[in-house]
Amino acid sequence: MAREEVIGGQTLVLVDCLTFLPTLPDSSVDLVLTDPPYFRVKNLPWDRQWEDAAAFIAWIGRLCEEWQRVLKPNGSLYVFASPKMAARVECEVGRWFEVLNRIRWVKEAGWHQKAEKEALRSYVSPWEECIFAEQFGADSSAKGEAGYGAACDELRGFVFEPLRAYLDGERLRAGVDKVACNVACGFSATMGGMAARHYFGQSQWQLPTAEHYAAMRDLFNAKGNGSGPFLQREHEDLRREYEDLRRPFAVTADVPYTDVWDFPTVQAYKGKHPCEKPEALLSHIIKTSSRPGDLVLDCFAGGGSTGCAAVKLGRRFIGVELDPHWAAVAERRIAAATAQAALTGPQDESQPSQDRPSGPTPKCELRLFHTPPRSDPVTSQTSCASTAGDLGSGTARDDHASSHRQTE
Ligand SMILES: C[S@@+](CC[C@H](N)C(=O)[O-])C[C@H]1O[C@@H](n2cnc3c(N)ncnc32)[C@H](O)[C@@H]1O
Repeated sequence: MAREEVIGGQTLVLVDCLTFLPTLPDSSVDLVLTDPPYFRVKNLPWDRQWEDAAAFIAWIGRLCEEWQRVLKPNGSLYVFASPKMAARVECEVGRWFEVLNRIRWVKEAGWHQKAEKEALRSYVSPWEECIFAEQFGADSSAKGEAGYGAACDELRGFVFEPLRAYLDGERLRAGVDKVACNVACGFSATMGGMAARHYFGQSQWQLPTAEHYAAMRDLFNAKGNGSGPFLQREHEDLRREYEDLRRPFAVTADVPYTDVWDFPTVQAYKGKHPCEKPEALLSHIIKTSSRPGDLVLDCFAGGGSTGCAAVKLGRRFIGVELDPHWAAVAERRIAAATAQAALTGPQDESQPSQDRPSGPTPKCELRLFHTPPRSDPVTSQTSCASTAGDLGSGTARDDHASSHRQTE
């Protein structure tokens, strides 16, 4: 199976995510949205894999290294963390990404309601953290630290390079120097002026305003070596391309736009994953930080809620889950959500209607791999030992999986 197929639809992989992640190409994922083990919060084997907290944080670091590699330069990362480990997880994420928010999901319902208050020796934490981060330098906002901006450009490529190259290419073609551009835009007649610093250079690049773009077009056409016309593209066209290249982030006053959230927790039901995240919360993240058709990656898929939300919103999805029981549950739930989306079409009202794909979601088979799709660095091919179907019947549930099931 070609690697492109793995990232081209809805895929579930039953394997340790640290085995799977190296098989993904660089810069292939638009949104990493994941809920890793918390470290000794749940009395389940998957939450007790590490000797101590330091080993857990080192493991988070290995994940971050892979996430940094597979996430696109304008992609977004959301990682849940328990109250006890949140600060340490955030520090580790901050070594690899620019942390933008520590979102606090406050839960009305939960075990804290039943706590014996008089016996407490410290306050109860009725919340989970969700760390929101982007690639360093992604929004053209590299910090002024020595060598930092250059390292961002070199390591990650530059998100706005196509636009910057267009503007600077036209300037060079017209034979106009940067100081003259400053003057035409009303900035100081030095290399320190805004146009020279921000419209043509890679560090802290900005899109010129419509007025400045028009002024530079007039200048280039007046001074150009007869090889014009220059800057023929409309400013509105550049602005749209700029929006497409930027990290998506779409909130309005009608949806949660602060970093304190109060989505209701998932009510108990038979077969519920002990850490099932509410679909409304996951949908909010997906709508805010991705576009229709984007690829969402959840390395700890559990019961598949992220996948369900992603397919209903018309996104592609890759889920990874180590436990065969939960992979089977996720497979069933995502397949049902995919079938529903195929009937109703994507449910993303946050997209302006002209940008929304019309008609039903393209039919998309969910593939479940029992081993990681094997990567072949030469041919970029992947293969799998077996594909979807048999786990869906529940036959693959084993003793190990049963012992992982919910104890609460
Ligand atoms: C916190 S739960 C995620 C629950 C999920 N958010 C949901 O809504 O159902 C973490 C999940 O990660 C799985 N897991 C633990 N270690 C893993 C690993 N190394 N690779 C893949 N999955 C793993 C566990 O089996 C568990 O189902």
